[in-house]
Amino acid sequence: MASSGLKKYIRKDPVQSSAIQKVPELHGSIFVYGRIGGGKSVSLLSIAQAYHDHPGRKYKIFDIWGGDRNENLYWTLPSTKISYWKKIKKALRLDGSAIKQYRVNLLYPMLGKIPKKLPDNEFVRSKIFTIPFTSLDIKDFPLISGVMSSRDEALWNEIVWTCKGKSITYMLNKIKILKAQNYTIYKNALRSLSRELLLQPNGSKYNIDIVSELDNQESITVLCLDFVPEEFKVFIAGYIIRIISEEIKKKRRKSLMLLREVHQFFRVSDSSVVPDRIKVFKTYLAHWIKLGRSGTHFILDTQSPSETRGIAEGQQDTTFFGRLPAQNDRQSATEQMLKDNLITQKQVTKLGILKPGQFIICPSGERAYFQYFFLPKSRYWEEGDGSFYKSIWKRAKDEWIDSSNVISYLKEQRKNEENEVDNSDEVLEKIMKSMDNKNDDYKTFQEEDNGDDVDNDIKTKNEESIKNNHSEEFFDIV
Ligand SMILES: Nc1ncnc2c1ncn2[C@@H]1O[C@H](COP(=O)(O)OP(=O)(O)O)[C@@H](O)[C@H]1O
Ligand SMILES: [Mg+2]
Repeated sequence: MASSGLKKYIRKDPVQSSAIQKVPELHGSIFVYGRIGGGKSVSLLSIAQAYHDHPGRKYKIFDIWGGDRNENLYWTLPSTKISYWKKIKKALRLDGSAIKQYRVNLLYPMLGKIPKKLPDNEFVRSKIFTIPFTSLDIKDFPLISGVMSSRDEALWNEIVWTCKGKSITYMLNKIKILKAQNYTIYKNALRSLSRELLLQPNGSKYNIDIVSELDNQESITVLCLDFVPEEFKVFIAGYIIRIISEEIKKKRRKSLMLLREVHQFFRVSDSSVVPDRIKVFKTYLAHWIKLGRSGTHFILDTQSPSETRGIAEGQQDTTFFGRLPAQNDRQSATEQMLKDNLITQKQVTKLGILKPGQFIICPSGERAYFQYFFLPKSRYWEEGDGSFYKSIWKRAKDEWIDSSNVISYLKEQRKNEENEVDNSDEVLEKIMKSMDNKNDDYKTFQEEDNGDDVDNDIKTKNEESIKNNHSEEFFDIV
């Protein structure tokens, strides 16, 4: 199966094709459609690599969403398809090695059960990161438990205003003093995220540095959500996408963000039985795709064009059609392009019989063309691959970094913070005093506190154990 698309390509068009994979200049995002097993996820990598490696393009790659199989981890290893690449090199008369060891930064949020050992070597760096709490926006919180009430918003404004530069312990104390402990924003977000040590004060040693990731165009930055509890995954992804887009707005540069299997978001309707956070993420994604035309580009892998109706419209986006077996899919997806004479009926028919790796590419506002994408130069997820850490990385490299240093450092810092605040009643007194001056606000928080959020309580599965002994609880995965 792996070579079927290739054979046809080489027979059809052996040397004439450029050695560099042809990728169109981007004005919007890239949508890759196709049936399951059609080569979407694999091509997502190949396309991203074509943009990354293109001498004139210079896109910074962020791999944000690895899907259920954490396919984003496979950037870390060079391709093992030796004979495949031999064939291509021969057919296309290429020099040099086509297989590539990328430089990769694996970013792990300080959340959930992080294993003691993480992949690390000369090319691959695992970094545990924390988030400065005042960098959170009120709009990030619905990605945990749905829409926030106005009192949550008011509380958050108060915290951002009064706790800037302060410690987490100070912030949590403040919430106590304001008697806001049964606010959704506290119960579902601030409490557990603080306990898990993800939230940190400004200037904390492991706070995420997105600017340095952006500046390091050579390295692929991979967000690893595999150890993050389900209820916080889209929150972290959303936060990262937001801060990347904000940085890009400040200083124009080109970035490409990969998200796999987005049908799991786009397929949900308002009435679907899925957690609210997923619906919120869908809305945000649509918004980012539409607004992010300048510099923030996405590559999204999804199954049917019907899933992205209303999102992938407009002439700016680039569409990669893999095999679409359903005729109504082919028809509805290409209707407008047929009218505009950008795709031919023959090409539309061909959509039904494309092989893995073969695509009809429709660049924004330009004529569609056929292209075969080579397999990625890195390794990629394949049916039958076991756990990435336990089998793939262990067998291929078996090189690790000990994560417990970071965790014990953060634990120690938090303990010091707590002692400081506990030991100085002064601080508390000060806060109380400042509250007296703002008595009216204080009342508002208390009065509105009618406990109507009690049922919405989110608790991390291992929150209690994490609270007590953070690193002792971590299982050794290797
Ligand atoms: N460019 C390609 N050339 C040859 N075979 C490919 C190519 N892309 C994908 N394949 C084959 O198809 C399989 C499925 O690809 P994958 O991207 O995982 O499918 P999808 O994400 O669409 O479900 C791969 O494991 C590989 O064997
Ligand atoms: Mg896939």
